[in-house]
Amino acid sequence: MTRIIIDTDPGQDDAVTILLALASPEIELLGITTVAGNVSLGHTTENALKTLELAGRTEIPVHPGADRPLRRAPIDASHVHGRTGFEGVELPAPRLRAREEPADSFLVRTLMENPPGSITLCCIGPLTNIALALQREPRIAERIERIVTMIGAWSELGNITPCAEFNAAADPDAAALVFASGVPIVVVPLDVTHQLHTSRARMERLRALPGGIGAVVADWFAFEKRFEAEKFGTDGGPLHDPNTVLWLLRPDLYGGRKVNVMFETESALTAGMSVIDWWGVTDRPRNALVLRDVDADGVYAELTERLGRLERP
Ligand code: BDR
Ligand code: CA
Repeated sequence: MTRIIIDTDPGQDDAVTILLALASPEIELLGITTVAGNVSLGHTTENALKTLELAGRTEIPVHPGADRPLRRAPIDASHVHGRTGFEGVELPAPRLRAREEPADSFLVRTLMENPPGSITLCCIGPLTNIALALQREPRIAERIERIVTMIGAWSELGNITPCAEFNAAADPDAAALVFASGVPIVVVPLDVTHQLHTSRARMERLRALPGGIGAVVADWFAFEKRFEAEKFGTDGGPLHDPNTVLWLLRPDLYGGRKVNVMFETESALTAGMSVIDWWGVTDRPRNALVLRDVDADGVYAELTERLGRLERP
């Protein structure tokens, strides 16, 4: 059993990641922490609550976190995800409420109360909450089993600026702090996600699933992926965040290399750029396993089969 906390800014693809975790008995989801990113913290928190209600898993706590990056002006990706982050399918207003304890406090408390190495953090938004938790209690660095995060890019460079991926660009200082913490990290960069197009055929298979969740996911992706499908002229857009949970479930679907990863925090032109030493040209510590290769059909088969296990209550 892998015990995880998902730190997230839903966003359609974040919500699919939560659903995938809930569909997987190998994973115990201890809680969800929310952060401003794709849209404002109010929307990301509400969307996390809606996602739990959609799956009928309202016992899982949602803890709101940072409403802005550590030290710079907020950016968002509402041009991709829509004003609420859930355009494509607007779910009913949640009856479930978020917990009062803020994300950084929940992260610290949960990690300090549990045995070292027993909790994985799945981070699929800007890393602000994790940075705040590490600042609040640096000893959590030795207790986190690993961080699996969708962030950065090696050869694909950027999707929100010419050379920065969104989660890194939204809070470069948090990314730099987390990657310097010594916690073992697995990185899903754009190099992987850009090989995973949400093609028409794949979306039709999702839509045909019994239980009603596949149709929601297909409609969400139809909206979210229109932006990058148009940008790249491809049949569908990239599949980002679900790869974090999929890697935990099926690491055999991915290949990568343990290398040094750092983030640019000074230059205004390249803020948030991931500097990935793929060829080992420095002697900096190998602080992350960076994924690059992926079995695209295997990923969609696994995702589709698992989402088919869920039913709308
Ligand atoms: C990342 O940015 C967000 O828009 C997605 O949810 C994903 O986490 C991709 O760059
Ligand atoms: Ca995200």
